[in-house]
Amino acid sequence: DWRMDSFTEEMIKTLKEKIGDKQVLCALSGGVDSSVAAVMISKAVGKQLTCIFVDHGLLRKNEGDEVEEIFTKQFDVNFVRVNAQERFYKRLTGISEPEEKRKIIGEEFIRVFEEEAKKIGTVDFLVQGTIYPDVIESGLGKSAVIKSHHNVGGLPDYVDFKEIIEPLRDLFKDEVRKAGLELGIPEKLVFRQPFPGPGLAIRIIGDITPEKIAILQDADYIYREEIAKAGLDRSIGQYFAVLTNLRSVGVMGDERTYDYTVALRAVTTTDFMTAEFAEIPWDILGKISNRIVNEVKHVNRICYDITGKPPATIEWE
Ligand code: XMP
Repeated sequence: DWRMDSFTEEMIKTLKEKIGDKQVLCALSGGVDSSVAAVMISKAVGKQLTCIFVDHGLLRKNEGDEVEEIFTKQFDVNFVRVNAQERFYKRLTGISEPEEKRKIIGEEFIRVFEEEAKKIGTVDFLVQGTIYPDVIESGLGKSAVIKSHHNVGGLPDYVDFKEIIEPLRDLFKDEVRKAGLELGIPEKLVFRQPFPGPGLAIRIIGDITPEKIAILQDADYIYREEIAKAGLDRSIGQYFAVLTNLRSVGVMGDERTYDYTVALRAVTTTDFMTAEFAEIPWDILGKISNRIVNEVKHVNRICYDITGKPPATIEWE
């Protein structure tokens, strides 16, 4: 696409001039927007960019390693991965109220980021992956808080920097993806579905334990693998597994089991403000269900969520 080609090229040039020989800091989430923004800056100024990636231990299976691999092997940036799992688990112990989980994770995230940023010292620029729809949305009056959103956009007050750079500010999501592909970011990352800042914490109903996180990661991995195999991964807006806090009776061989129920969520949507449940064919759902109960310990029942938004939300918490 000639228009995007010239956009990325022009943007890299502009960034080069603007940044000069100064230092840039980026909070990398592993999502599409922050990744494309980071790569664009790195193409402009290379190692003058430091990316801080906070792994809170609530990412999808293998996700932390995948992000690290891309940003250390493929692109020339200073990449700092902070393995902060223990800190987050500790603070989340015994917490089951959704808003409380969100607040704790948001706070802890900022603390960890701030500590790392301090080690780097004063930077001149902070990169944010703000895209055009974010710009519009933040201009609208907010009604009642349904969920307190956490994402890596919310940092400026806590970091010592002089100016924010938002290279994607004029782009829609599909344009960000195109730019990402042009910049050589792997398709897997470019077409990654949205993932909430608080991560799997808000997909585990009730309190969070490392064991529950592992169960959910495994179930979710199988779900994503089968959806991709069925060729549905680009047509369903968002799909993920939820670990309900419900255990029920089942049977395995001659034995009684008393294990968790996993819910599968999949929605089609244009803007994530409203959504319909996706009509995944029964045979595919059946296969996913079989694989999860056979391959993931402590899961003996699978349900499919057939509510739209509203009245449900996309995430369960
Ligand atoms: P809900 O559950 O409100 O989700 O229907 C709408 C979309 O927003 C995502 N989501 C979040 N994204 N930080 C984010 O960056 C958050 O705290 C957060 N909570 C929900 C959700 O995955 C869906 O795409």
